[in-house]
Amino acid sequence: MMTANEIRDSFKKFFESKQHAIVPSAPMVIKDDPTLMFTNAGMNQWKDIILGTRDPEPRRRADTQKCLRVSGKHNDLEEVGHDTYHHTMFEMLGNWSFGDYFKEGAIDMAWEYLVDVLKLNPEDLYVTVFEGSPEENIPRDDEAAKYWAKHVPEDHIINGNKHDNFWEMGDTGPCGPCSEIHVDSRTPEQKAASGKTGRELVNQDDPQVIEIWNIVFMQFNRKADGSLEPLSMNVIDTGMGFERLVRMMQGKHSNYDTDVFQPIIKAEQQITGLKYFTFEEETESPISKEQDDINVAMRVCADHLRAVAFSIADGQLPSNAKAGYVIRRILRRAVRYAYTFLNQKDGFLYKLVPTLVAEMGGAFPELEAQQQLVTKVIKEEEESFLRTLEKGVGMLNDAMNTLKAEGKTELDGVQAFRLFDTYGFPLDLTELICRENGFTVNEEQFNVEMQKQKDRARNAAAVEN
Ligand code: SER
Repeated sequence: MMTANEIRDSFKKFFESKQHAIVPSAPMVIKDDPTLMFTNAGMNQWKDIILGTRDPEPRRRADTQKCLRVSGKHNDLEEVGHDTYHHTMFEMLGNWSFGDYFKEGAIDMAWEYLVDVLKLNPEDLYVTVFEGSPEENIPRDDEAAKYWAKHVPEDHIINGNKHDNFWEMGDTGPCGPCSEIHVDSRTPEQKAASGKTGRELVNQDDPQVIEIWNIVFMQFNRKADGSLEPLSMNVIDTGMGFERLVRMMQGKHSNYDTDVFQPIIKAEQQITGLKYFTFEEETESPISKEQDDINVAMRVCADHLRAVAFSIADGQLPSNAKAGYVIRRILRRAVRYAYTFLNQKDGFLYKLVPTLVAEMGGAFPELEAQQQLVTKVIKEEEESFLRTLEKGVGMLNDAMNTLKAEGKTELDGVQAFRLFDTYGFPLDLTELICRENGFTVNEEQFNVEMQKQKDRARNAAAVEN
């Protein structure tokens, strides 16, 4: 079985053999673009080349890009850790052609890498092509379909709509039709049992029939008035989700069970003395609610450690504003989970840095170079937030003592909300502490207070606009 590091290296080696310059990842933190705080796609750093305002040489490039997505439909920070495949930070493997090869070359190379190098079974691969958009005057991408037909049977080529098959960097900027490669990673038994073909499961949120690679045929620049202007050259922009590729190559159901995350999770187990149950172990014997909380917390910490450590290595310290605040929120979320479910009352994440550096420092030398700073900043930030948490616990203890004196057993939602608002206590932490002391929390009232605050924020935003 190939390790994560071997898979990453094989991608670079393959594209190097195809005359691509292997370039370093751009920083995950973006300092000079007011519209973007973090790199969220491999092509961000090439925007000027794609728009024709920067020298395109060398015209073939490939890399692995550190990306961070903490907002948007499927990237709600609060969801990360609860499932097996969403992350804050992830790597995107990419190859680019700036006015060199176009659709045929990109499709042939992607196919060769997946089938000849990684040895994926061609029968498990499905591809999508843009069905076209009459209102934008763009026809179906027959050209891409023709090149795919060199490799796959017709029933493995699926038409896709604008949402899935027309990639845009943002409201404005480079864009174009794209082809996604999906892999049906079910075992033969699972396929037989489900009675559904891979084709039927593409883009249906099946955890085992997943998109791994998006190949964008950049042809346009979306202008502020919404119109499309042809680019001065055709550009290939591809992005392959590294963590899910590794999951598939290692035959795992969860990204967290691959060697991208397992070394960190092992270190967590060692430090906490608690056990993590992999997906297979969970399936064999269902786990308790308490164990599930531990599992979620270990995933949250493993994920967030990466995001925070790489941001700091890239020069973004946690702070109270903008990008710094995003990093602070991510870090504090990890501290809360470690504190609540892993029983870590002192700094914890910083102890995981050596493991992260051992695993990823080779591919990302900036992490190794900044190890000391990363450790120091995380430790200080953890300790200061833990003091705030302790204050909140003190306030909660006072409230519970008052309730006890009054013969009550329920903490009202207004107090629970105040703990959330002032001390960053999420409801589950308040509930956990209350439960341990024989109290319940009025959740309904908490939600009412939360809604009131959201309304206030929305009204304030409306006034500003
Ligand atoms: N830009 C495309 C994406 O982010 C392909 O790299 O999916």
